[in-house]
Amino acid sequence: MRFEIYRYVPGGGARPRMQRYDVALDPHDRMLLDALERIRTTQDDTLAYRRSCREGVCGSDGMNINGRNGLACITPLQGLREPVTLRPLPGFPVIRDLVVDLTRFFEQYRSISPYVADEGPFPERERLQSPEERARLDGLYECILCACCSGFCPSYWWNPDRFLGPATLLQALRFIADSRDRATAERLDYLNEAYRLFRCRGIMNCTEVCPKGLNPARAIERIKLRMVKAEL
Ligand code: SF4
Ligand code: SF4
Ligand code: FES
Repeated sequence: MRFEIYRYVPGGGARPRMQRYDVALDPHDRMLLDALERIRTTQDDTLAYRRSCREGVCGSDGMNINGRNGLACITPLQGLREPVTLRPLPGFPVIRDLVVDLTRFFEQYRSISPYVADEGPFPERERLQSPEERARLDGLYECILCACCSGFCPSYWWNPDRFLGPATLLQALRFIADSRDRATAERLDYLNEAYRLFRCRGIMNCTEVCPKGLNPARAIERIKLRMVKAEL
């Protein structure tokens, strides 16, 4: 199978380039990550990419695969158009080859206080939720912060410092929607700013590429609705 893979080491003197690899796959190689491991073990151990769980859980191996962002470990090789073109997630600084710097992405995530906020009084035992309250978190809590959506959002490419991007906004709703959280007003207040939330243009690229089948664009709309309701 033929691959064209982005190679670049910032500060290394060489310009970014695409490198061709022709790989003899093993019958057990089913996913794109298997092919990358095969390239690294049989041809080129300088090729850099992130991976950990190989099960679509850790969110490490987000990359641009034939023009769409996705996770290498859950992308079947069968059906991929050749040459399979792999580039780093668009819009993020490259550390090396397919590895991008997600520092800003995680700072933005931290900025939305990603934990249930409750200053008490505390219950004697756990904070209970009804099944309906718990169901409101469906489609939100499953996010693995792989950044595939933010790396496919034109508004995020253009304003990466000021627009929080779809992944962080979906996570923001995850806590706004949580019945145990007591900081909804503060959370909405933080997001109610020209860029942080309102730079979303409804282009829907985010929803199209989420490998977990989530809908960040809908989450952003739900936050806006909560803002309107809060002001009525
Ligand atoms: S919403 Fe989907 S694409 Fe975006 S970070 Fe979460 S899991 Fe990844
Ligand atoms: S819907 Fe909003 S967040 Fe999603 S890709 Fe479009 S502009 Fe970005
Ligand atoms: S290696 Fe963990 S999500 Fe792909």
